[in-house]
Amino acid sequence: MQVILMKFFLDTADVAQIKLYASMGFVDGVTTNPTLIRKSGRKQREVVEEICKIVKGPVSVEGIGNSAEEIVKDGIEYASWAKNVVVKVPMTLEGMRAVKMLSAKGIKTNVTLVFSPVQALLAAKAGATYVSPFVGRLDDVSEDGMALIGQIVHIYKNYNFATEVLVASVRHPMHVVIAALTGAHVCTVPPEVFGKLASHPLTDIGIEKFAEDWAASLKGK
Ligand code: E4P
Repeated sequence: MQVILMKFFLDTADVAQIKLYASMGFVDGVTTNPTLIRKSGRKQREVVEEICKIVKGPVSVEGIGNSAEEIVKDGIEYASWAKNVVVKVPMTLEGMRAVKMLSAKGIKTNVTLVFSPVQALLAAKAGATYVSPFVGRLDDVSEDGMALIGQIVHIYKNYNFATEVLVASVRHPMHVVIAALTGAHVCTVPPEVFGKLASHPLTDIGIEKFAEDWAASLKGK
């Protein structure tokens, strides 16, 4: 495993937000899930096709099938919508069967709802393109989400797995900082957190002071 740069995905199905952050060159990909699609108030196919026109990188799309056959059937349909669609597959044994079958068809996969290092190991061995550990949901139940990222990065490096570690369920900027320090490949960031990444109170104070001094210098003060 060779980490070259940490990619930013946007964790949303809100097209306006995707356009905003894409205009700054920050959006290497997008992740969606049924909750985010519901929040968009739009039909899944329509919104995914629009996102895939804006973002050329991977766009993760999730269904609700349980059996490998159901997941593969949905996955084949999603992959027909655009060439950059990645199929999200739940971390179950049936899901692992689906990963194998989808990979054999050349369809990229993102194993989702991962909460332990052994789940991530199985996903990599099944041939997943991405693995999505949900750090915020682990923190919510008094576990250490970012410690899990460290373990998965370590395991993947040990065995040179090609699967990329995609930090999901990001809740605040420190998740992003630790993801980068740990060497995760991708961090999928909700727009509300993205907005916080650029800001610092000392930056705001500095801008205000420079503006004040500039105005004063024009008056010769
Ligand atoms: C992304 O792939 C995940 O579905 C998402 O990050 C989950 O985030 P949440 O735990 O805030 O719902």
